Amino acid sequence: MDRVVTMDLRQHNTVLVGHDRFFVFRADNQLQLVRDSCPHRGGPLSLARLTPDGRRLSCPWHGTRVGVAALRRTAVPMVRSGDQATVVLSAVAADAPVSVIRRRILANLPPERQCDTTA
Ligand code: FES
Repeated sequence: MDRVVTMDLRQHNTVLVGHDRFFVFRADNQLQLVRDSCPHRGGPLSLARLTPDGRRLSCPWHGTRVGVAALRRTAVPMVRSGDQATVVLSAVAADAPVSVIRRRILANLPPERQCDTTA
């Protein structure tokens, strides 16, 4: 089932679809929705920095560099109208919760927990 999501770009940059998280990525004057998960251990690529050459994102957790071109190949294009952006998500279960959140909530997520297995 297709789901249409519209967000105010002044307040939101993230879409939650069930347990999957996506963020708005801007490159070459285009907006795309990209899965917010580093291929290493699932870190938040939405908090990554672009490398100086603009070709990779450096994950904030362990520094893995993810190619922007690879991200864009799997991204979903968004349509912008002023401060509003719309995206059509395909193959989303009819009962899957879909929501948009503020960027600052994502930035407050705790780092991955360390497990003490020596006890
Ligand atoms: S989770 Fe991204 S570098 Fe480890």
